[in-house]
Amino acid sequence: MTGIMKQTDTKSIVLGITGGIAAYKAAELVRLLIKQGMEVQVAMTEAACHFISATTMQALSGKPVLTSQWDENENGMAHINLSRQADAIVIAPATADFIAKLAHGMADDLLSAMCLARDCPLLVAPAMNRQMWERAATQRNISLLKADGVGILGPDSGLQACGEEGMGRMLEAAELALGIASCLHPKQMQGVKVLMTAGPTYEPIDAVRGITNRSSGKMGYAVAQAALNLGAEVTLVSGPVALQPPAGATVVRIETAQQMFDAVQARASDCDIFIGVAAVADYRVAHASAQKIKKDGQGMTLELVPNPDILAYVASLPKPPFCVGFAAESENLRDYAERKRRAKKLPLLAANLAQEAIGSEHNQLILFDEAGEHPLPRSGKQQQAQALLQHIIKLRG
Ligand code: PMT
Repeated sequence: MTGIMKQTDTKSIVLGITGGIAAYKAAELVRLLIKQGMEVQVAMTEAACHFISATTMQALSGKPVLTSQWDENENGMAHINLSRQADAIVIAPATADFIAKLAHGMADDLLSAMCLARDCPLLVAPAMNRQMWERAATQRNISLLKADGVGILGPDSGLQACGEEGMGRMLEAAELALGIASCLHPKQMQGVKVLMTAGPTYEPIDAVRGITNRSSGKMGYAVAQAALNLGAEVTLVSGPVALQPPAGATVVRIETAQQMFDAVQARASDCDIFIGVAAVADYRVAHASAQKIKKDGQGMTLELVPNPDILAYVASLPKPPFCVGFAAESENLRDYAERKRRAKKLPLLAANLAQEAIGSEHNQLILFDEAGEHPLPRSGKQQQAQALLQHIIKLRG
């Protein structure tokens, strides 16, 4: 039998590849999953074989690749045998067509039959052109899958194989490997309440102008998502960003630092961990105008007053939660970050270079704690967030 043998602590994955250009990323995904100690059985649709060869996947997985329902070694029961032995089935890439089949319970080839016959979690990594992704039919099918408890990994936005730019790119292999691992591993933060801030604050000058800090919210939202994946209860106090909040988080939307402070103050006594990822404006305008200020060709002086320091407030509560700060610096990163950690009396602070971190998809955090500094390898923000949370779990014991 070519099926995967389940061992007690080894996770067995069926990796289903469907016919999309992102199939090339599945090769790297197999490598990463095996590196994480998983066993991988690859199953490919006929269309997938036009994009990447079964020989490549066999060499990487170390197992014969299944492509047909009618493989004589399996007695026509490959879909039952394989899904019984798997800890999860992952479809990467999942085309719009295959997603439609899954959503409607079709089973006219080995892979779709396996998904229907499974007794384990199903994870789907969509990959398609942005218009196919945005089409109402695809979105309906995704909603159906979500309602059926299927995990959706991605997609991401960016340059597509067709030359267009937008949503629909499959996540990178490293991001998928982490997403799969976090689905398979125990919920290490079950019952833990995480309160956090993310994004910038906006301090009005008048009805149309304001002072703000640069922050897309990507790092903070990634931390929120990673905590949710680990089973935490997450409250995300967010400044104005153009991101979809992670499903499952309680989101409190604010604009100014004072509003962020008020939202945190009201919840700080009821959380186990506080993480300040927000880029909070240190100052606000003393007398903001309700009306648009008319320009008169002369210079203008604004009186600024300091905003409350939210993180310092939480860290100095009589019974503070485990407090984690962030620091974005443009120079002397290590020195400034460690000084900040000590000044705010934090057990942990994550430092990053402002010019590399703000708005980007990737980041490199250096974690500072009482034991010293712990640089993380550069990677996507989701991976940085996962590594940060593992460090928090370790420090909290
Ligand atoms: O959103 P992205 O585009 O993904 O970018 C992410 C990021 C660069 C904004 C993020 O990774 C980051 O570094 N956030 C902290 C920004 C910063 O430099 O903060 P700070 O040095 O001003 O403050 C230090 C810490 O105190 C931070 O945890 C901050 O949230 C907190 N703080 C600061 C001032 C204030 N009034 N209240 C606070 O809570």
